[in-house]
Amino acid sequence: MAMRIGVIGYGYWGPNLLRNFVQLEDCFVAAVADGDPKKLETAKKFYPWIEAFSSGETLIEKGNVDAVVIATPISTHYPLAKAALSKGKHVLIEKPMAMTSKQAAELIALSKSSGKTLMVDHTFVYSGAVQMIRKLIDSGEFGDIYYYDSVRVNLGLFQHDVNVLWDLAPHDLSVMLYLIDKQPESLCAIGAKPVHTNGWNLESIAYAVVRFPKETIAHFHVNWLSPVKVRRTLIGGAKKMIVYDHLDPDNQIKIFDKGVDFSSKQQLDGALLQYRTGSMFAPKIDQSEALLAVCRHFVDCAKSGKPPITGGHFGLSVVRLLELAQESMDHDGKNIKIEEPFYADARK
Ligand SMILES: NC(=O)c1ccc[n+]([C@@H]2O[C@H](COP(=O)([O-])OP(=O)(O)OC[C@H]3O[C@@H](n4cnc5c(N)ncnc54)[C@H](O)[C@@H]3O)[C@@H](O)[C@H]2O)c1
Repeated sequence: MAMRIGVIGYGYWGPNLLRNFVQLEDCFVAAVADGDPKKLETAKKFYPWIEAFSSGETLIEKGNVDAVVIATPISTHYPLAKAALSKGKHVLIEKPMAMTSKQAAELIALSKSSGKTLMVDHTFVYSGAVQMIRKLIDSGEFGDIYYYDSVRVNLGLFQHDVNVLWDLAPHDLSVMLYLIDKQPESLCAIGAKPVHTNGWNLESIAYAVVRFPKETIAHFHVNWLSPVKVRRTLIGGAKKMIVYDHLDPDNQIKIFDKGVDFSSKQQLDGALLQYRTGSMFAPKIDQSEALLAVCRHFVDCAKSGKPPITGGHFGLSVVRLLELAQESMDHDGKNIKIEEPFYADARK
């Protein structure tokens, strides 16, 4: 039987979720909710059969749905997800999962006790590019990862309830967690608030660094004040190096056979450093919409009971990294040791 779905939040991202869910055969988008009547009117125009609710809370209470998708501002994720899981619905939450790791842990416990699927939409993990990089790493062709360095900048969109770190960094942190199979050791971050008003005073520029064992390091640059949009990640490995440019569909991933090798041929001088400057290969990437894969995976997991790739624990790990990065930013870039076990088993 087709799973009945309700989408809560029909702002910027909600319409994309709805458009993708209606393409799937084994589910039916039965309801939508938004506090703004104009948004509901638009949704009804595109999907005349859909039942419209003026709040997510009412949809959860009264809607005839098996699952809800939460695409509302971050501060509302936890109360809505809690209400939905308590009502026995499967839940897909937009990134980041919640405002605190405590809230995220509570949702995981609720999903366990209710036996319902809890998944977080970390869209980029499901993209053709990231899936291909992961295959390359798993094959051993890439070697040990030395560094992960991402830039995600553009002009706006300023969010009213969170800073740039909480808005943009979940994308890069989730990809990093999916690709680097190591427990993060420490973290630090700094940010700046050059734009502020009396009522709004949040960081619009942030830089964060996560350290892993064996000298693996990751760096994140997120910025709402950039004149151009950049979505570029460099990943350096012992055997290969990758440039992943999300905005270049023809060469989204470039794999370079470049690096440094040690040779001990010259015994007199000891080890000799050699630069490897081999060829570049740009593989064909599956360009189908990553969000469609997210929606399909959610329905599949809810129906089969199998754990999602970006389930509750994965979402919690991203929230925890954001929380620690915020703590570091609030203390002028203080280095924070990460003691608790992290979600390294995203790769299992
Ligand atoms: N995965 C991605 O690539 C991606 C991209 C953009 C946004 N997002 C995430 O999606 C979420 C929403 O972001 P957005 O940019 O669409 O925000 P938005 O402000 O454009 O839209 C949110 C909508 O939710 C509605 N809303 C708020 N509270 C509600 C409630 N209790 N019941 C019903 N409707 C309610 C608002 O009226 C608004 O229309 C955020 O968590 C954001 O991080 C994810």
